[in-house]
Amino acid sequence: MSFSPIKKNLELLKTAPNILDYAQAFTDFSWDTIRSELQGLPEGKGLNIAHEAVDRHANGGLRDHVALRWLGSEGSMREFTYGELKGLSNRFANILKKIGLGKGDRVSTLAGHIPEMYIAALGTFKNTSVFCPLFSAFGPTPIYQRLSRGDAKVLITTIRSYQLKVSHQRDSLPSLKYVLLVDVNDHLGDALLSLPRLMEESNDRFTIPPTDPEDIALLHFTSGTTGMPKGAIHVHNAACHHYMTGKYVLDFHPEDVFWCTADPGWITGTSYGIIAPLLHGITNVVDEADFDATRWCRILETQKVSVWYTAPTALRRLMRSGLEPSRNCDLSNLRLIHSVGEPLNPEAVLWGLKAFGVPIHDNWWQTETGGIMIANFPAMEIRPGSMGRPLPGIEAAIVHRTDKNTVKVVEEPDAQGDLALRPGWPSMFRGYLHEEERYKKCFMDGWYLTGDLARRDADGYFWFVSRADDIIKTSGHMVGPFEIESVLMEHPAVAEAGVIGKPDPLIGEMVKAFISLKPGREASEELRLELIGFARKKLGAAVAPKEIEFWDAVPKNTSGKIMRRLLKARELGLPVGDLSTLEGGE
Ligand code: WT7
Repeated sequence: MSFSPIKKNLELLKTAPNILDYAQAFTDFSWDTIRSELQGLPEGKGLNIAHEAVDRHANGGLRDHVALRWLGSEGSMREFTYGELKGLSNRFANILKKIGLGKGDRVSTLAGHIPEMYIAALGTFKNTSVFCPLFSAFGPTPIYQRLSRGDAKVLITTIRSYQLKVSHQRDSLPSLKYVLLVDVNDHLGDALLSLPRLMEESNDRFTIPPTDPEDIALLHFTSGTTGMPKGAIHVHNAACHHYMTGKYVLDFHPEDVFWCTADPGWITGTSYGIIAPLLHGITNVVDEADFDATRWCRILETQKVSVWYTAPTALRRLMRSGLEPSRNCDLSNLRLIHSVGEPLNPEAVLWGLKAFGVPIHDNWWQTETGGIMIANFPAMEIRPGSMGRPLPGIEAAIVHRTDKNTVKVVEEPDAQGDLALRPGWPSMFRGYLHEEERYKKCFMDGWYLTGDLARRDADGYFWFVSRADDIIKTSGHMVGPFEIESVLMEHPAVAEAGVIGKPDPLIGEMVKAFISLKPGREASEELRLELIGFARKKLGAAVAPKEIEFWDAVPKNTSGKIMRRLLKARELGLPVGDLSTLEGGE
């Protein structure tokens, strides 16, 4: 079924958008012009994200403007102006410096939406160290993988998360020098310190050292299909892209109140939950609590949110809740809703228009691209079900791989192929940490291959088809099947495990595992529950399999690789087809 486009309607936008004419913006675009809208460090000492996001405003007219408005889950509220954020991030940068961290050293966070996470991110950028946030719902195994692969020197977390998830494996993390606890008031050991106490004793003045735009700022782990998570490297120059997309896609205006609901452990939570709104000097709302339909509508209303960035699973949950937000709440300030992370079904786009009184604009990007690449721009006709059109400065294409090393750009409309991007934008990843080969494999014939299959229509709108690999998207979180299979195989009863994403109308995909048992072990309901519990304890409930099925053998190809697509085809009752094409790639 095809859905009619939502016509361009400037009245619904309430404010004139920053891009009125898409074609013109494309022609006029230059990265130099974007760069010139940022300030740069004093005396030509480079470009630092935190200077652009905080100090630039704190030193100018926005010193007393609210930068962060934090809503505690129990109903409290804390506000931080740009001036205050400057002082606090300076204090944090001084702490890092004092404990011996410098350029390139990794600082990880394992915490939800708490103010310390934002202060730590900005202070880390200031110290030219590297910010590496982790998803707080991860269990001990994924946390260990990421701290160890990222050689994190400092971890910022709560006492509870530390005790539950980190302390028992600290001896196997030799790089981890300090753990800074956000919720204890006194140091608990030489390497287990109280962050509030350190902050109190720290100086609120700090001079950002010279920062090359190519210095590493961020490390974000993402999942592969055949191996453990890979750390995508991003540099300070990414700020140009965050700024540009804040301006052209999210369409920030000075009076905006922005709310990005993404978890700070994933890249949307950094690029758009921290950096982009602050680059624009607007007010960024942060909610500590998890999804709750009524709470969310209240936040939109009481905080007078004008631009909202959320995700399909949340929108579908709202849709199911039966709430009619625009009827029950005053949403007169809300002018733009953006969605990202997984396919946004056209029904949700149409529901959104009715429920909120403004359309939902889908956009597409990935951890590797660092920022939005394809979008339904505010002043553009929305095609429900489409991710939109490429951003100015971005060349996107559908390509076919012709043989091992070349690709052919597919010109005919609506043909399916690999979604590819021409490398070179500022927020593009610069590598996978310690994995040069894996990085190189992403590029072919002058293109970056995204791992997504898509179509492009005659008017240049892109339509998502599926992943080209076995990556699972569950509630918008990217999950690597290999990581889950490895954990399941640690259980003494398990011989082999194959993990797939089973389509689910609410959360996109549900993690499902197929397991064969060691000789002498019998499949039973009790064992099934034990395995689910085992996986949840190690991986965390958000990524552990929700369903487990026992099979006599898990199908593998001749080279011993699990044929997940065969598992998926059988699960869905689809013809198994030509097995040679079923192999999952990286
Ligand atoms: C993958 C990237 C989105 C940035 C944060 C998550 C899927 C993303 C869409 C969309 C359909 C989407 C793709 C992509 N995806 N946006 N609008 N429609 N699919 O980044 O965790 O690296 O995930 O998410 O498969 O490759 P990520």
